[in-house]
Amino acid sequence: MEVVPPLVLRAEQAAAEVGMPLRRTGSGPSCCLPDAGRFLAMLAAGCTGGTIGESGTGVGYGAAWIASAMPADCRLITVESDENRAAAARWVLADDPRVEVIHGDALPELTRRAPYDLLFADGGQQPPEIVELLRVGGRLVNDDVTPADLLPVDSPYRLHDPKRTFFFADPRLIATEVVLPDRHNSLLVGTRTA
Ligand SMILES: C[S@@+](CC[C@H](N)C(=O)[O-])C[C@H]1O[C@@H](n2cnc3c(N)ncnc32)[C@H](O)[C@@H]1O
Repeated sequence: MEVVPPLVLRAEQAAAEVGMPLRRTGSGPSCCLPDAGRFLAMLAAGCTGGTIGESGTGVGYGAAWIASAMPADCRLITVESDENRAAAARWVLADDPRVEVIHGDALPELTRRAPYDLLFADGGQQPPEIVELLRVGGRLVNDDVTPADLLPVDSPYRLHDPKRTFFFADPRLIATEVVLPDRHNSLLVGTRTA
């Protein structure tokens, strides 16, 4: 049976308190999907002695998955621009000294603390320079991707999807798309090779 870590349940409570949806609603930010959280946890578990970054903490739902799985000597830096959400995430993660929740603009804050073994880019800008924030061998993850087969026939994303282009056209990344078990959502993951 798949176990949901207690910290993730605490993040669900925080999401309810600040009115952040657990699922995509089409308008406004939501928490990452549980299967995305589990995928991040799987990657985080391998970051021995490493540093993990997250842009767009929300209320700390993805961060809770990551923190629940990362090795004891790993740290997580997560940045949220919305003050209420950052405060909620601080409450969720308050008992874990390995986690730093920063209220601010993700790109400059994460740049100051780079490099990362794992970077979950989930809020704010994602310029090509973000790849430079990874160590060689580090992983970049984006969520909220719709599998190509499920896109409406007239969707412009069938011809050009900026997220997919970002991952698959960058010569510094070996990338793949991971369709989640619900088969309706994907993640993009890239490993920095140079
Ligand atoms: C999709 S939600 C994050 C969900 C969260 N990563 C999780 O796994 O539950 C995106 C968040 O990014 C935040 N955000 C948007 N622009 C940002 C920026 N420039 N710097 C930091 N956070 C930002 C939004 O306020 C929002 O809370």
